[in-house]
Amino acid sequence: MFSRFKKPDAADPKPALRPVAPPTAAAAAPAPKPAAPAGGSSVPPKAMLGARPAAVPATPEAAAADKEKKRKERLMELKVELHKRLLENLNLAALEHASEASLRTEIAEIASEALSEMSVALNKDDRATLNQELYDEVMGLGPLEPLLKDESVSDILVNGPQRIFVERGGKLTLTDITFKDERHLLRIIDKIVSAVGRRVDESNPYCDARLADGSRFNCMVPPVAVDGSLVSIRKFKKEKLGVADLVRFGAFTEEMAAYLQAAVSTRLNIIVSGGTGSGKTTTLNALSSFIDNTERVLTIEDTAELQLQQVHVGRMESRPPNVEGKGAVTQRDCLRNALRMRPDRIIVGETRGEEVIDMLQAMNTGHDGSMTTIHANSARDGISRLENMVAMAGIEMPIKAVRSQIASAVNLIVQASRLQDGSRRMVSITEITGMEGEVISMQEIFRYERLGVEPSGKIIGRFNATGVRSHYSERFRQWGYDLPASIYEPII
Ligand SMILES: Nc1ncnc2c1ncn2[C@@H]1O[C@H](COP(=O)(O)OP(=O)(O)OP(=O)(O)O)[C@@H](O)[C@H]1O
Ligand SMILES: [Mg+2]
Repeated sequence: MFSRFKKPDAADPKPALRPVAPPTAAAAAPAPKPAAPAGGSSVPPKAMLGARPAAVPATPEAAAADKEKKRKERLMELKVELHKRLLENLNLAALEHASEASLRTEIAEIASEALSEMSVALNKDDRATLNQELYDEVMGLGPLEPLLKDESVSDILVNGPQRIFVERGGKLTLTDITFKDERHLLRIIDKIVSAVGRRVDESNPYCDARLADGSRFNCMVPPVAVDGSLVSIRKFKKEKLGVADLVRFGAFTEEMAAYLQAAVSTRLNIIVSGGTGSGKTTTLNALSSFIDNTERVLTIEDTAELQLQQVHVGRMESRPPNVEGKGAVTQRDCLRNALRMRPDRIIVGETRGEEVIDMLQAMNTGHDGSMTTIHANSARDGISRLENMVAMAGIEMPIKAVRSQIASAVNLIVQASRLQDGSRRMVSITEITGMEGEVISMQEIFRYERLGVEPSGKIIGRFNATGVRSHYSERFRQWGYDLPASIYEPII
């Protein structure tokens, strides 16, 4: 039975079978009859899930919930035991070349054999669930696997083995999926990080990685993570939202899209600012669609997420140091090198450190039309962030000089925001117009006005122009983007 993928050195035909600890005394004495009856009409054996008489629950709903919980616990126990046996028996090296179908068959056969040796009978659904979960344990990321496959889930957040949250449509909810215990969670974490040549342990308790499908993964393990390992997975969406999608979802209006098209096409330097998960990368990606196909674009990211549609794109990804602390290639290294690669435009996924200096210089020295994102809550805050990054990069420059560098480098700040109801909107588009004394002057062109909240919590609001005409309208006109004056007129 274990033939095809069995470890070559396993001389014993079968491992010593240990009975699974049954969850209750009632289930501890299963009728010792064969689990899989030959005939079609079978009386469910006593050990069948949920057959145990429960302590009298208060309501039928509570009884059902109780039964379901017990069923899950029992399945989890069975899974752990069967998984252990699978690991003992499967030749993991041979699995790489096995087809999915043959592996599934093999797992189902091993599971079925082991179950009947343990005198445990499962109904068809439970058996299918168990086989799927075993397959996920062996080949994938265990309990996380269904969530990774679920297209509606955008983020997966694990707070210790018993609490897994997901984000769907901007809303966080607790799932009923759990890991068996911290060891189980750590095993899955180890599987992910070892696949990218990293390690996490007490002395090196956190790690960033990219999953095979491009999703971003971060983990932190105990003792730094106090209540069990913390994992966050930001799923990679193959289909990135385009400008038309974003307009349809109400992220910004068609007028704002026309303005942004003019801004990108006439090579303004643009910063997309926003909080975590506010849609910065999505916005940057959508804006990049306005870049002309003849241009050579170089992208630099910590985790390659951008999907530019142009023909001439060179993608770079920075690299963290290896286990010995060597071999790091920072975003700054990539950016410096990119400047020697004759780019028309440079796009940095997120500016968060010393690379800010080179980014500002690039924007100031002939690489107009460059774009990046920063983590900030408003355009003004974004400027302060840039100033702080320059200071932290160890550049000793008077503040006025830093500001005038920023003012001449950055033309536009687009502010993305995730509102309380989970919707993501471009809450402000602000132009930088120069310096007044020591202060950078700016003007807001479009903004999102909040008008109220529906009882359901949904935010009511509208986009509006501020009435200020673009500082760049003459440039737009000269480049052939003659926007009508009406798009700058506010609705009153
Ligand atoms: N306007 C939108 N409408 C609906 N979903 C959106 C919108 N903008 C972004 N999203 C979704 O929100 C999630 C987070 O978006 P994105 O990765 O662009 O945010 P971010 O600000 O770059 O996050 P991070 O801070 O992690 O870099 C993605 O799943 C994306 O598809
Ligand atoms: Mg991002």
